[in-house]
Amino acid sequence: MNYSALIQNRKSVREFTDKPVSYQELETIRSYYTRYVRRLVPGLDTQLYFFGTDTREALEGAAGYNAFLVGAPQYLVLMSQRHALAHLNAGYMMEDLVLKLTDMGLDSCWVTFTSSEDIKDALGIESELDVAAIVAFGYGKKTTKRLRLNLRSMSNVDIEAKHRYMEPKRGIRDMAFLNTWGNTRNLDDFIGFYDDVLWEALYAASLSPSYLNRQAYGFLLHDGFISLVSRPDAYNRKIDGDLSLGIVLHHFSVVAENWAGKPQWKFGLEAAQPALPEGHGVVASCRL
Ligand SMILES: Cc1cc2nc3c(=O)[nH]c(=O)nc-3n(C[C@H](O)[C@H](O)[C@H](O)COP(=O)(O)O)c2cc1C
Repeated sequence: MNYSALIQNRKSVREFTDKPVSYQELETIRSYYTRYVRRLVPGLDTQLYFFGTDTREALEGAAGYNAFLVGAPQYLVLMSQRHALAHLNAGYMMEDLVLKLTDMGLDSCWVTFTSSEDIKDALGIESELDVAAIVAFGYGKKTTKRLRLNLRSMSNVDIEAKHRYMEPKRGIRDMAFLNTWGNTRNLDDFIGFYDDVLWEALYAASLSPSYLNRQAYGFLLHDGFISLVSRPDAYNRKIDGDLSLGIVLHHFSVVAENWAGKPQWKFGLEAAQPALPEGHGVVASCRL
């Protein structure tokens, strides 16, 4: 797959036509998941479930922004073994599937949820694993409106959050810093040294879907490392925050590895520990 092109083409779609997703298409997704899907943490036990159009009713109230659920012909539900990195890994894997859907001409939208148990009950899933990520998909309605949100149904989302998620995304200079957090002096020269690889990977990262479009993260280039840093964010909930971090790691990694080989991310205490403002934290780092 040409990840750079797919990342640039993908957008959240929240209205779908009645055109069903065919059995063959579902099999293509299933087989992609089994054989090729990218994983951030190899060895974590995961499972992919497919649910059809009647799922909307079952999920109503348990998933979606303020319980406003994106109605779609199909839903993907990714289950995962419990682990400190489970949602980072689920974000990474599910985004790989989202880009596979984009490659197949299908549209999609991530769907938030708060409780794995509620979703399992609603969908009748009997599994030792937890619900880790949900995506709605199908054939999107063609719309000329740039804004693809049903704002009336979103009236419970508060004004600031609502505005943020209609806003354009942060550009590279608002999310990548050199040596110290917030510093962009000499950033272009530094990135230029890497022959566009770094620029393209950061650009792909800047286009990532994130919970409420918060983009509560950034990258710090420092001491021979690149570190993904989480920013404090009042709206971010733990699961959505971690899924969004997994997604941005995916976008960065799949584009960077075209030229530079697969980034070897280190997490937690094994990651680099640069000085950061209060409330910020290194999620993962790898050598440049
Ligand atoms: C973890 C996560 C949960 C999300 N949940 C929802 C949701 O429940 N409903 C919705 O309409 N969009 C949801 N989104 C989509 C974001 O609002 C969307 O990615 C963001 O506004 C950026 O727009 P884009 O995806 O078109 O680039 C979610 C995204 C992520 C990453």
